[in-house]
Amino acid sequence: MDVREAIKNRRSIRKFKPDPIPEEKIRLLLEGARLAPSGTNTQPWRFIVVKDDDTKKKLQTAAHNQRHVKSAPVIIVCCADLKAFREFPERVDELIESGALPERTREVFIPYLKKGMSTVTKDALMIAVAANVAIAVEHIVLQAVEIGLGTCWVRWYEDEKVKEILDIPDHVEVMALLPVGVPDEDPAQRPRLELGQIVFSGKYGEKYF
Ligand SMILES: Cc1cc2nc3c(=O)[nH]c(=O)nc-3n(C[C@H](O)[C@H](O)[C@H](O)COP(=O)(O)O)c2cc1C
Repeated sequence: MDVREAIKNRRSIRKFKPDPIPEEKIRLLLEGARLAPSGTNTQPWRFIVVKDDDTKKKLQTAAHNQRHVKSAPVIIVCCADLKAFREFPERVDELIESGALPERTREVFIPYLKKGMSTVTKDALMIAVAANVAIAVEHIVLQAVEIGLGTCWVRWYEDEKVKEILDIPDHVEVMALLPVGVPDEDPAQRPRLELGQIVFSGKYGEKYF
């Protein structure tokens, strides 16, 4: 299966077979997340793999009783570590050592990032981590399609309850619950806006298609 096929075939799956997921497949999904790109290579994503029935039941309750949160054999709870951004000097060093960035980046970029970090609001930080973690989550989602698994992004949950159930510390935010399992439904493609409604030419609002 190529990427285009995985993108086309992906659906949000809300009915799962009870079949357990082999460990190698769980590892493959998480490896997909690990390889995602992130700003200054900060890799702020953290994942909690939940298989235990009691914990899944509690998560389902925190997620307004959405059934797929309990019925999937595995829930990958996708989180963002807000402290990860503070480790950018180490990440920049690694990028320089690997040859991805030129040596002068250290003098130019690090003071710029340090200044930004000292004034950044929690809201701005949340937007940045959300963008980064979303990419990693979607890597999992697309990798799952290739190996015959279904997933569903779940963002409708009570944040504080999920954090309490899973002992998540204050500097870590929950970005999504991702039920994963063998699909027990084969839904048709869901509606989408046309390209003409979402793509502009040169300036916002100018027709492209
Ligand atoms: C950020 C995000 C949050 C979502 N939250 C939920 C959710 O809480 N519960 C749910 O059942 N589906 C949720 N979805 C799935 C959407 O409903 C679904 O992607 C959309 O209806 C399009 O259907 P498709 O994914 O099958 O193409 C979410 C999707 C995204 C990307």
